Amino acid sequence: MKSYDVVLIPGDGIGPEVADAAREVLDAAGINIRWQVFDAGIRAQEKGKETLPPELLEVVRETGAALKGPLTTPVGSGFTSVNVRLRRELGLYANLRPVKTLPGTRSLYPDVDLVVVRENTEGLYIAEETWEDNNTVSAVKRVTREASARIARFALEYARQHGRQSITTVHKANILKESDGLFLTTARDAAADYPEITFKDRIVDALCMDLVLDPGTHDLLLCPNLYGDILSDLAAGLVGGLGTVPGANLGEGCAVFEAVHGSAPDIAGRGIANPTALILAGAMLLRYLGEEEAAARVEKAVHAVYATGEISTPDQGGSATTDQFSRALIRFFDENHF
Ligand code: NAI
Ligand code: MG
Repeated sequence: MKSYDVVLIPGDGIGPEVADAAREVLDAAGINIRWQVFDAGIRAQEKGKETLPPELLEVVRETGAALKGPLTTPVGSGFTSVNVRLRRELGLYANLRPVKTLPGTRSLYPDVDLVVVRENTEGLYIAEETWEDNNTVSAVKRVTREASARIARFALEYARQHGRQSITTVHKANILKESDGLFLTTARDAAADYPEITFKDRIVDALCMDLVLDPGTHDLLLCPNLYGDILSDLAAGLVGGLGTVPGANLGEGCAVFEAVHGSAPDIAGRGIANPTALILAGAMLLRYLGEEEAAARVEKAVHAVYATGEISTPDQGGSATTDQFSRALIRFFDENHF
């Protein structure tokens, strides 16, 4: 059996609970992963380390792959988001978030199948905020042609490889004519090389309405950083909440897989978090490693367990614990001789 070194960052809040579940399920999926466990964020700080320890970055660069639980970011003051720094330090420029209805979940629509591609390195997320005087703050929104072209090509290439019919560039270029304007025109130029993919664009507020009325109006959303963040959670809401939506942060030769959701302090420590999102992020990781069959096995087990309607965590209307849910997946592997 081939084996892989993968970094595991359990994270904060529900992070360790869903990370344990994901690890057990991936370990049962028929491949050999040597997990290298690292703390980051608050847990690292509590142990007297930096919130983003340099040795963690080094090992992720070496192994090329990590599975990460959510990391808490203090609101208003305190340390800079470790998630944002991790993406920046490792050059993880593309954030890929497939949003799909799972059977037997609280999805508001029966057949959502949407992909959010989010620019991961710039926009307002550079967090350059300056007090101009005692009463005024300005924040820089940086948009470069290079990063815009890179993410547009990523989205178009993804669409081509996965048979997506159209891509919608999300913007507010009626107001932000220069910054969102550059993002939009760069995407449109890149799309000229992909004539088989329909290129659409939509102003972000109108797009929100489209998604709520009929998520099938769009196929793949190409988003600047902040709109992509917001639309990911909106899209997660369409399929019954954040508990089932995975994501990948991808760069050149390096990738960090995580759930779209955060550390969910409101339910942390109770053993009832839905591990599906991180488990499906784990399936994306397996596919990234070239283990297509194992990835498909994990996804099939998730679908099959939800389809029985017998077991789900409270966010999806059930009463299962995190552990009971992951054990149901492992039982599915056993019963189907996977
Ligand atoms: P959140 O995503 O943690 O929670 C929002 C709501 O969804 C809560 O009601 C929560 O209980 C529910 N939820 C989330 N994941 C769930 C799961 N797996 N199963 C069941 N219910 C789930 O968002 P919130 O509360 O705004 O953020 C909490 C912290 O997480 C903040 O410090 C934030 O900065 C951080 N965060 C970290 C992310 C990351 O590590 N990539 C992403 C988003 C937020
Ligand atoms: Mg978010």
